[in-house]
Amino acid sequence: MKPYSIYVVDDEKVAREGVALALKKSYQVKAFVSAEDAIEAIKSEAPDLVLLDIGLPGMSGIEALGQIKKLFPDMIVIMITAYEDVKTVVSAMKLGALDYVVKPIQMDALSVNVRNALETIRMRKEIQGLHEKYLKENLPCFIGESNAIQDVMEVVKKVAQSPDTSILILGETGTGKELIAKVIHYRSPNFRGPLVSVNCAAIPKELIESELFGYERGAFSGADKSGKVGFVEEAENGTLFLDEVGDLSMEAQAKLLRFLEEGEYYRVGDTKRRQVRARVVSATNKDLHGMIEDGRFREDLYYRLAVIKIEVPSLNKRRDDIVPIARHFLLEFSDRFGKTFNGISFEAEAALQEHQWTGNVRELKNLIERGVLLADGPELKLKHLGLDGATEHGVSKEPENEKMLAPLTASGIDFPAIMNSVEKFYFQTALKMANDNESKAAQLLHLSRDKFRYRRQKLQLA
Ligand SMILES: Nc1ncnc2c1ncn2[C@@H]1O[C@H](COP(=O)(O)OP(=O)(O)OP(=O)(O)O)[C@@H](O)[C@H]1O
Ligand SMILES: [Mg+2]
Repeated sequence: MKPYSIYVVDDEKVAREGVALALKKSYQVKAFVSAEDAIEAIKSEAPDLVLLDIGLPGMSGIEALGQIKKLFPDMIVIMITAYEDVKTVVSAMKLGALDYVVKPIQMDALSVNVRNALETIRMRKEIQGLHEKYLKENLPCFIGESNAIQDVMEVVKKVAQSPDTSILILGETGTGKELIAKVIHYRSPNFRGPLVSVNCAAIPKELIESELFGYERGAFSGADKSGKVGFVEEAENGTLFLDEVGDLSMEAQAKLLRFLEEGEYYRVGDTKRRQVRARVVSATNKDLHGMIEDGRFREDLYYRLAVIKIEVPSLNKRRDDIVPIARHFLLEFSDRFGKTFNGISFEAEAALQEHQWTGNVRELKNLIERGVLLADGPELKLKHLGLDGATEHGVSKEPENEKMLAPLTASGIDFPAIMNSVEKFYFQTALKMANDNESKAAQLLHLSRDKFRYRRQKLQLA
């Protein structure tokens, strides 16, 4: 089977048959006398490439090119022209023709043009394939075996399919709301578009409108000279994730509501009405109903955001998930830190099962990360977990520090991840020693309170 198909459109018999004959050796070729016939054929079976004469009787080559590109924007078209009519050739290129050849056609030159064009198709397909493979391999991994979480994931899978439905995710801190937003994006038809995450709590109140909707040149003093595209526009054809949506000011809530109701918005300082298509997923650990009662959250906005509402149960309410999640992180961090862990001791698993997880999955993840960093494999033991009052066979609960560093081997180590983990370890220990008093903890680490607080947020320590 010849891999590529080519349609040749030329009313001049000699040119048409000459070209068809020359290309038949390597490609599947069909020849047409008129643009009308060719377009009919393209509609029922699209080729990979079209060789299109400009000077056709009836519909002209330029007109046909426009129609073909409308039907198949990616179709590769090479124009054939009787003489180098610069104007016509230029307008063909503007309409999306890839190349042109001049009559009388030199068959050698033509086959080089065709080969190059088809190479473009092959590369495009390869890039597309790689992109999709990358997305598949990097799909966020959501672990959960409990009935409660299985039910949640059922809903997630179903609603992900409808690409415009707004979804509100509720749950305590660290339960996996952001991860679920990612799963929704990558399992939905929006996955080829961007996932734009906005932390509503982190943007100063007076900037939220310009951050969300962008601004025009010189909209306000201090604004970037060239204007700015907002998050909403960036998320075009993808997913806009509004994290900590419960922290939006009343003013920002009103602006967001208008956008959700009308699908339209204005950049700050601009009179042009703009439209964008994107799915809005939002999340919060706040009690929105309570806030509605207190007049701090708009009820109409709530119903716009929560067309579908997903409530993620706390980890304490789905204890069947604790051990599978712990094992997942054990393998992940063992791999990342170049360690050899393959299991968790019976006592350690029992302690994890018993623990009250106020920080939910994030707390569990941090605990396993620290244990893997500080201890040596192959088994993670109770004493490595640093849970309060946890001892095993009378051994001190302090993790062993001497084996902290993985050896540097020829395959390399994930240095940034290790440094991050070391930092987390000292931050957590300092906070514990200081009874959660930030100033004291900062002092223990010889850091200013601001720097401590900044890094603490970056490290996502509760
Ligand atoms: N079921 C799960 N499987 C694997 N990893 C998970 C799971 N749930 C949460 N995580 C991980 O735990 C960490 C915390 O999750 P995430 O950031 O999604 O929580 P959150 O609900 O958004 O918390 P917050 O309200 O504090 O923002 C992340 O690193 C996330 O990847
Ligand atoms: Mg979050």
